[in-house]
Amino acid sequence: MRGIQVNQYVKGPKELQVTELPDPVPRPDQYLIEVHAAATNFFDILQIQGKYQNQPPFPWVAGAEFSGVVLAVPSASSAANPPRFPVGSRVFGASQGAYATRVCVAEPELLAVPAGWSFADAAGLFVTAPTSYGALALRARLRAGEWVLVHAAAGGVGLAAVQVAKALGATVIATAGTPRKLEVARAFGADHVVDYGDPAWPERVRALTPGGRGVDVVYDPVGLVDRSTKCVAWNGRILVVGFAAGSIEKVAMNKVLLKNISIVGIHWGAYARFERETIPVVWEGIGQLIAQGKFRGTVFTDREFVGLESVADALLALGGRETWGKVVVKIPQSGESRL
Ligand SMILES: NC(=O)c1ccc[n+]([C@@H]2O[C@H](COP(=O)([O-])OP(=O)(O)OC[C@H]3O[C@@H](n4cnc5c(N)ncnc54)[C@H](OP(=O)(O)O)[C@@H]3O)[C@@H](O)[C@H]2O)c1
Repeated sequence: MRGIQVNQYVKGPKELQVTELPDPVPRPDQYLIEVHAAATNFFDILQIQGKYQNQPPFPWVAGAEFSGVVLAVPSASSAANPPRFPVGSRVFGASQGAYATRVCVAEPELLAVPAGWSFADAAGLFVTAPTSYGALALRARLRAGEWVLVHAAAGGVGLAAVQVAKALGATVIATAGTPRKLEVARAFGADHVVDYGDPAWPERVRALTPGGRGVDVVYDPVGLVDRSTKCVAWNGRILVVGFAAGSIEKVAMNKVLLKNISIVGIHWGAYARFERETIPVVWEGIGQLIAQGKFRGTVFTDREFVGLESVADALLALGGRETWGKVVVKIPQSGESRL
């Protein structure tokens, strides 16, 4: 196969190289997948630099999120224990080594590509959609008619959150940092947009809500909880999703007390460890939204990335905060020029 193998930590994506490598050998519980598209995440950049929480022993292949076609089912499967995805199935998921033409993955990390979806759209679904659905539907218990503020609404989890909140019947206020990103948030369903580069954004958000009462739910992947307390309603819920701004926020707790605020965390990846039974519930909910046409792929389309050689540029664009949605690299297989 071809892939981006990391033999030592690098300073940045520019140093990554695509080389010929032996095909990966699946464990007995793993599928072998032909990769057709791979999505980028900020943690991919941290991992190649040795700064991520999960650093495999050298050498390892970079990348995590992918979509593709099943080439081989787990050797441990049998008539009594049949594989869920037969050879030829279109699948997406996450496993170390997605920046390659082949990747190995166990069944819990694999799902069927939704009907009518491209490989590119499906490659970016595995992390963002369940994080935002789980946060809004399960953790914040969002109800129809409520007002939701989605921060960094044009980012990967943000665009998923905008769509989920709209589908659940909420009115959505989206924040982002550039006119283009605000336009994208609107295109994915946001009712109102606010540039959070303007220091007066909390007042502007509050002024949009009925009677200036504030929003019922805040979805925060950035680290804006403290300032969001200024525009949240009585009994509001603030979802702590991430810290894209780079530092872990500290919050003045008197603000939480004064408005009866609930601060609610979400760690989607940890459901596999602590609450596995909820994972299919979340995917069932997402599947229904997709079938109803209320949730679509969020692939960044302002620039195209094709071939493993363009992974470095895709990671640089993502890290440079130039992109929106999911930055996905199409990986044409032999005889396939476009996906
Ligand atoms: N809790 C969970 O289970 C879970 C799951 C997935 C991801 N996350 C976390 O959620 C966060 C967002 O993930 P994502 O996949 O949506 O990332 P992303 O696609 O890179 O989007 C992040 C957004 O954050 C905004 N941002 C604000 N300050 C920034 C800064 N200093 N540098 C870079 N971006 C900044 C940017 O929008 P503007 O340019 O408009 O400001 C950007 O669009 C990350 O911290 C990630 O680790 C958490």
